[in-house]
Amino acid sequence: MTLVATPRPADDIAEILVNAEDIGAKVREMGARIAADYAGRDLVLVSILKGALPFLADLMRATQIPLALDFLEVSSYGTGTESSGVVRILKDLAQPIAGRDVLVVEDILDTGQTLNYVIDHLHAQRPASVRLCVLLDKPTRRVVPVEIDYRGFEIPDKFVVGYGLDYAERYRNLPFVGVLKSEVYARPS
Ligand code: IMP
Ligand code: MG
Repeated sequence: MTLVATPRPADDIAEILVNAEDIGAKVREMGARIAADYAGRDLVLVSILKGALPFLADLMRATQIPLALDFLEVSSYGTGTESSGVVRILKDLAQPIAGRDVLVVEDILDTGQTLNYVIDHLHAQRPASVRLCVLLDKPTRRVVPVEIDYRGFEIPDKFVVGYGLDYAERYRNLPFVGVLKSEVYARPS
């Protein structure tokens, strides 16, 4: 019998930027801060599909106060590594947010174009407040200024995958944040 090894997503990683333990510790710290800041408020976590899913799942369990979840799906990137600069809403919120305290939960702040658009879109629905929580921040890439209320890690200007972040829809299931080997980009898709 011939054994063929199944390729694992981690085989394509050149370098780990943030390991799973550090992500876990940071997310617990962020959740505790959010729980303290929003105690007694009508908190809605608005998460942006699909990249923020693992972050949201961990963050909400670290935030032990009553809260609701809602989701937006936007497209800004196509399947490559460069922003198209054009943001489209693919799926809008399911519940009204008027008068409520919205915390946007996002995986990464890069040029800022996506979140700038999303935050304007949310403000138009007259919530009591809109604040922003991002796991990763690439400040050197910013094109539009965006204020961050809760920031996990500042990272250098490198395209990263894992913990929700994808390259061509893959690598979201890695438990850490890392950089792909350059040969991955040369592969036919
Ligand atoms: P922005 O509009 O340029 O700030 O880009 C925001 C979106 O682009 C994020 O929500 C991600 O979906 C995607 N993105 C930005 N940088 C990266 C990266 O390094 N890896 C994977 N996706 C990224
Ligand atoms: Mg995203």
